[in-house]
Amino acid sequence: MSASFATPDRANVQGLILRGYTHPFSCHLLFSFSTGAKSADTKSFFNDLYPKVQNSLDWGTNKPVSMLNIGLTFNGLSLLNIVAQNDLINFPASYRQGPWSGGSQASLADVFDPDSTPSGWWNGNGDAVNASLHCVIHAYALTNNDLTTLVNFITTSATKNGLKEILPLAPTNSGGRLYQSIVYNDQNKIHFGYTDGISEPSLSIPGTAGLPTAEDYSNFLIGYANSSISEPGPFDTSTSGVFAKDGCYNAFRIIYQDVYNFNNFIKDQAKKFADTLSYLGLSEPELEEWFAAKLCGRWRNGSPLMLNPLKPGNDVTPGTGEGFGYTELSDPTLPNADIPSGARCPFSAHTRVANPRNQALDSSEGSNGPPRILRRGMPYGPTFEGTTRDDVDRGLIGLFLCGNLSGQFEKIYGWMNYNNFSDPPVYGIKHPPQDALLGNRKAVLSPNFPGLTLDFTIPLEGNSSVPSITVTLPSLLKTRGTAYCLLPGMASIAKMAGRS
Ligand code: HEM
Repeated sequence: MSASFATPDRANVQGLILRGYTHPFSCHLLFSFSTGAKSADTKSFFNDLYPKVQNSLDWGTNKPVSMLNIGLTFNGLSLLNIVAQNDLINFPASYRQGPWSGGSQASLADVFDPDSTPSGWWNGNGDAVNASLHCVIHAYALTNNDLTTLVNFITTSATKNGLKEILPLAPTNSGGRLYQSIVYNDQNKIHFGYTDGISEPSLSIPGTAGLPTAEDYSNFLIGYANSSISEPGPFDTSTSGVFAKDGCYNAFRIIYQDVYNFNNFIKDQAKKFADTLSYLGLSEPELEEWFAAKLCGRWRNGSPLMLNPLKPGNDVTPGTGEGFGYTELSDPTLPNADIPSGARCPFSAHTRVANPRNQALDSSEGSNGPPRILRRGMPYGPTFEGTTRDDVDRGLIGLFLCGNLSGQFEKIYGWMNYNNFSDPPVYGIKHPPQDALLGNRKAVLSPNFPGLTLDFTIPLEGNSSVPSITVTLPSLLKTRGTAYCLLPGMASIAKMAGRS
């Protein structure tokens, strides 16, 4: 059987998928359809919300003041009785079984760390919430007042219709809800001080010449021909395929960031290696920045290490420009084009692991290039100030979008926990350690990652007597919760709302 590639109807795709919103205020609300909820109740809830659901059509200059998007967990989807019970099996195992399942944990590795383990997620209510979380509503607004109005509207409808709100954080933190924060007084910053919102993986699929490339959605939208990537596949004409069409999965992951540990780590390394690195001619604060850049692959102002090996540059250019790639620069006129790439950007720097772009991969990884995901994250919790540890909750509200949770999101997570994807003949290494920012450090206990080391090697240029330095990666993150949601197409949301 064959079918031709069709360009998706943007009106049927939830807006969050095809565009990164820049609304500065958002709240991510979790609900359970509570036992005994009648389908009329959930229909009434989704019907109330329907007029506010944002699609992917261009809004031109009329930026919505407030809007929302809707995600369903598999348990939520099953309760809606829209997809026939016999067809539910057509959804992929990762989505059906949830991110706490053995299959997903083989890459996510939260189970190995008592501070991240799924039973402790959602403010300690992991097992109960993992089983009873049915939908996540992502609410966005231009002002705080507009957000408050929208959140009140959503929660009033939820209460009226018998849905139970799940509060994922401790009550001391914004009443337990996941509100976006602006940190370091800068909408583009995230905790640890890095700049976000610069680059996204390209949407085109390698090796599919002749297909639309600018908007080749197959990695991200479900139900298109020529794509065995997204699941259910394009030839599923049953109620599962129909419901999932134009949908996308969202790996919704809440990650606590230990800014105190991060700050101390870069300070300690700057002191410890001051003599070895004195030939760089950097002051101690500049050396701290140098270490922060080596962990991430970008300077904290966003400029790529590949073009600026010594100090942050001004070339914070969005997109997939040459400076965001990882092979030797083909243009010999670019600064430092002759420096081996590992010496500019370590192989295990976060952006390099999460999207190795043009770096050669181990042949066991196939020939399709690195998997890609779309990121729609934002920080929660206040900026860390001072030098004393506080017990305030802060971190990342991560929305990682893809058409195939195991082949994209979990594949990348596996690499972040265990960097075994580089091509050894080219890079001379097979098992370097973990992603220097991400990576569950307790994954060393996992039988899936034999020989995992927390040594992070930073190759040095211009120092023939010391070719590299090695630091031990610190523990910087804890997983506070994860849900796998389907962001259904608008036609399916209309069905959920009883409108069709
Ligand atoms: C608290 C946790 C995290 C921090 C602090 C962090 C930090 C960053 C930063 C600073 C960037 C560069 C921003 C930009 O280019 O706009 C970035 C890019 C990226 N991150 Fe993360 N990240 C985190 C979690 C994750 C997770 C969980 C994943 C995936 C599973 C991920 C995947 C990516 C990808 C794919 C990119 C784009 C890289 C590129 O295209 O060059 N990140 N991250």
